[in-house]
Amino acid sequence: MAEKTVRFIIKRQSRPEAKPRWEEFDLPYRPSMNVISGLMAIAETPVDRFGNVTAPVTYDSNCLEEACGACAMLINGRSAMACSSLVTKLKQPIRLEPLSRFTVVRDLTVDRSVLFENLKLVKAWVPLDGTYDLGPGPRVEPEAQEKMYQMSRCFSCCLCLEVCPEVTEATRFVGAAIINQVRLFNEQPAGKSLKTERLHAMMGDGGIHQCSYAQNCVQICAKDIPLTTSISIVYSQAMKQAIKDIFPSPEVAFEKRP
Ligand code: FES
Repeated sequence: MAEKTVRFIIKRQSRPEAKPRWEEFDLPYRPSMNVISGLMAIAETPVDRFGNVTAPVTYDSNCLEEACGACAMLINGRSAMACSSLVTKLKQPIRLEPLSRFTVVRDLTVDRSVLFENLKLVKAWVPLDGTYDLGPGPRVEPEAQEKMYQMSRCFSCCLCLEVCPEVTEATRFVGAAIINQVRLFNEQPAGKSLKTERLHAMMGDGGIHQCSYAQNCVQICAKDIPLTTSISIVYSQAMKQAIKDIFPSPEVAFEKRP
């Protein structure tokens, strides 16, 4: 019986400014084969289906179990995680492309540093560093922990940014992943101390007002995070903050008087 073959068509690009090209590879099917194991097989023997020797395909991956978020790419035109995309569930030939909203570093690897810059912008952390023992943090009830756990599952894969129609160079919209982190840290008892600063960042350039509620983010999220709920909650927090900024409480207004 003829050996079952899997065909990959991969968009290659040697440098950020290089012209992209396509290469095709035929691989013998292996049970439980996924896109990453296909890329690993190509790396072992980097020869295209016409017999030309080529360079192994560059891609990001780490955990191989949909836990790190590194392997996001376009698979048959759809944003997905390569390590959990089983070959048997994909239409052949399997087309692999880098995420389209980010600068290509090489082949399927893109520069996603904008996400980390935006995490810094919204101060997505709990300010606990100190030069002395700060003691135990505030108690968090199990129900609150459970709620926050859902939000904390974000693994920065950027799929939600890839599918969002508002994430463009013109809008500089930070996207659902960032807004979800704002909600998470605003609800965390120790993280709350930076809530006003986070909301001011949300009200600035590329902030929450850029969201058109297309809801693509919640559909694509690999971790089933309730992203649209996070967007609604942060939107309402930002509105309240805007009103508070215009009409500060009497004590604050008094303190500010020259
Ligand atoms: S390799 Fe970690 S999510 Fe795919």
